[in-house]
Amino acid sequence: MSEIIISLDKVRKVYFLDTVEVEALKDISLDIHAGDFVSIAGPSGSGKTTILNLIGCVDKPTSGTVIVHGKRTSDLDDDSLTELRHKSIGFIFQSFNLIPVLNIRENVELPLLLDGRSGSEHKADRKDWVDYLIESVGLKDRMLHKPAELSGGQRQRVAIARALVMKPAIVLADEPTANLDSATGESILRLMRHMNETLGTTFIFSTHDPDIVEEADHLIRLRDGRIVEDRRIHGKTSIDFAVARGTNEAVDATETEGGQP
Ligand SMILES: Nc1ncnc2c1ncn2[C@@H]1O[C@H](COP(=O)(O)OP(=O)(O)O)[C@@H](O)[C@H]1O
Ligand SMILES: [Mg+2]
Repeated sequence: MSEIIISLDKVRKVYFLDTVEVEALKDISLDIHAGDFVSIAGPSGSGKTTILNLIGCVDKPTSGTVIVHGKRTSDLDDDSLTELRHKSIGFIFQSFNLIPVLNIRENVELPLLLDGRSGSEHKADRKDWVDYLIESVGLKDRMLHKPAELSGGQRQRVAIARALVMKPAIVLADEPTANLDSATGESILRLMRHMNETLGTTFIFSTHDPDIVEEADHLIRLRDGRIVEDRRIHGKTSIDFAVARGTNEAVDATETEGGQP
């Protein structure tokens, strides 16, 4: 069995709007396995973004525990939370969130440039990695274009490459297909699945579209802040993880011998 990389236990999240309390999550418990392709599905307002924000160390639960990569987020101060986020998590957004004045290559490379640690890495290695990612998402010939010159689907491909550039163990995608037509949305899902299988990165994506969840290893369905379905469709064998080994150091630590799903 693969390692459990994310664990929520009896999580509640309450937002306070003036004097009104909104209970966005009510008693959520779930485990996510390293390397899985996970779908969080549910109608608008069901709590998808709230869960992703808790997993993404952007916010803390009102009560209950959230454990990400072995760390209990409520025990961390803001600096440690930020570090965990930078080291372990990549983000993909519904509205792509690219920087308009930077070209595609610069957008993908930016997190590396902003990261103090990357100074020690060889520039040539860094360039190869960025090239590899841009090629993997099919945008080699668009590398020097600005985001405004790309279609929505192409912009989301850039965002996928950017989310992976720090080699995070986990990528969170909040309704990544919501602004795309269904054929383009499907190709974005296929690309995320391909990167999940190639690099071993755990992907968690949310969607309000009930049709696009079939592809996932693990389906979590929400309604009104509660889990109404939690189904791991097929586990991964250790062979799947062996493919990823060596390409993503975060995955090496998750490998166990001879496990059966
Ligand atoms: N910052 C906030 N302040 C107050 N209420 C919020 C806030 N964010 C979300 N909510 C409420 O929490 C519930 C869940 O929201 P959300 O997690 O955004 O759902 P989803 O992403 O599934 O649409 C909704 O009722 C929403 O109105
Ligand atoms: Mg949302």
